[in-house]
Amino acid sequence: MALTGVGKWFAAGQGRVEALRGVSFSVQCGEFVAVVGPSGCGKSTLLRLIAGLLVPSEGEVLVDGAPPGVARAAKRIGYIPQESALLPWRTVLDNVALGLEVNARRSRREAREQAWVQLAVVGLAEFAGRYPYQLSGGMRQRVALARALVIAPRLLLLDEPFAALDELSREAMRYELLALWERVRASALLVTHSIAEAVALADRVLVLSPRPGRVVGEARPELPRPRAPEVERSAAFLAAQAAVRGLLGAR
Ligand SMILES: Nc1ncnc2c1ncn2[C@@H]1O[C@H](COP(=O)(O)OP(=O)(O)O)[C@@H](O)[C@H]1O
Ligand SMILES: [Mg+2]
Repeated sequence: MALTGVGKWFAAGQGRVEALRGVSFSVQCGEFVAVVGPSGCGKSTLLRLIAGLLVPSEGEVLVDGAPPGVARAAKRIGYIPQESALLPWRTVLDNVALGLEVNARRSRREAREQAWVQLAVVGLAEFAGRYPYQLSGGMRQRVALARALVIAPRLLLLDEPFAALDELSREAMRYELLALWERVRASALLVTHSIAEAVALADRVLVLSPRPGRVVGEARPELPRPRAPEVERSAAFLAAQAAVRGLLGAR
């Protein structure tokens, strides 16, 4: 996945709101990249551009060497939007199956079988028949993850996936996410305003300026994998956090 000189602006009254300016970076195959930046700097816009839901005002976005729409149609992109859009009238199982059903080549039965397997992987098989409102916030995020992963994506896009969770669930979910990601071996791009989350998860942390978002620097947490919660007490973790904090301050 690669962005080259990507800018995005929106019409607003007489003028325009510039969300992103001159953003260039790439995510290698199997790499986990996090993007950190203040609220409103264009993080969600960035992910929507890569998911093919928005078109850049300038520059180019390529996923597997093609425009994002191609990768999206081929089910190579798993996207978890900021407001995880589970359908309230569908059971947990049918929410996960939704990721597959849109693909005409799969029957509903096949889709449900695969969804079932994916639910077991995220530890929610026994909740398959429940509805989203009957689950905790953390469980709902695991359903959203299962729905993104069930298509076996090559690129996983995560928009502040744990922002709505309490502190304890948020920290536990980091390592659940890592375990799932290590299973699928997809590339991952996660945006967040949490420095700790970015450092705990990523091979590389890109730092964005306030709006219009520009990449102002990059940190590489030197943390071995697989990672466990204890990593957050290591000197390397604290050093990486300090590096990111420095980049966020230095603009
Ligand atoms: N569809 C849109 N129309 C107009 N302005 C938008 C639209 N989407 C985002 N913006 C503006 O672009 C900026 C970046 O938004 P967003 O990408 O949601 O930031 P973040 O996710 O980092 O908080 C904000 O000023 C926001 O109001
Ligand atoms: Mg956002």
